[in-house]
Amino acid sequence: MNPQIKAFFDAATGTVTYVVHQGDGSDCAIVDSVLDYDPKAGRTSTGSADAVIAFVRMHHLRTVWLLETHAHADHLSAAPYLKQAVGGRIAIGSHIAEVQQAFARVFPQAPGVRREFDHLIEPDEILTIGALEVHALHVPGHTPADLAYRIGDAVFVGDTMFMPDVGSARCDFPGGCAAQLYRSVRSLLALPPATRLFMCHDYPPAGREAKWETTVAEQRAHNIHIHDGVTEEQFVEMRTRRDATLPMPVLLLPAIQVNISAGQLPDAEENGVRYLKIPLNAF
Ligand SMILES: [Fe+2]
Repeated sequence: MNPQIKAFFDAATGTVTYVVHQGDGSDCAIVDSVLDYDPKAGRTSTGSADAVIAFVRMHHLRTVWLLETHAHADHLSAAPYLKQAVGGRIAIGSHIAEVQQAFARVFPQAPGVRREFDHLIEPDEILTIGALEVHALHVPGHTPADLAYRIGDAVFVGDTMFMPDVGSARCDFPGGCAAQLYRSVRSLLALPPATRLFMCHDYPPAGREAKWETTVAEQRAHNIHIHDGVTEEQFVEMRTRRDATLPMPVLLLPAIQVNISAGQLPDAEENGVRYLKIPLNAF
């Protein structure tokens, strides 16, 4: 059974949010939502999430899952805001514990302060969205906890590969591993050639519009980092050299402390203001 898929592209962070459903009145899942955040003003806003909510309501969809492919370092998740508006359970891969552990040194929220996810998905676990089956594929490399979600002929690949002309995700965050990413991507590219692949991000090169859907066959033929014939050794060498040149994402520190707490913002302090923390000289 193949899903219907509605994509929402956030140009500010290059992130694609998906609503996966089976038509009006069906159950749906929302994959990788975005809470807008302006780091200059320290201001959150909900324009991106509200567009998703409007779609869900217009089509009378029942939200059963709010799925994260991983703890994003480039945007804040809107999952708690969406949950309040349209329901659904917030879920991420069970290996998130390793990511939380990796950041515990700088963001040591005590258990009880850190909000937990509604559900931790084990590798190869099967969830359901109405009559659709969601197969959770563990695809570590970018982070230890990355999942891809296979739903019928569609796979939401998270941060593993990007569009063929952009390549692959970085592997230099805590717990990242280029060799693991190679194996994860190759496992996805072993799926049938016509499998539709939906990216979590697009960073379009100058002159092309943002795109987020491709196929296994296209990636195997054309992905600039990991097309057929590229060996693990070649990939690791390229990825490691390239990662050494990349700056930290602008929103890494704001995003990670929110996203490892299931997207919940910190509680307000005595003056009624919430604060994100910036650890100094820790990275
Ligand atoms: Fe990411």
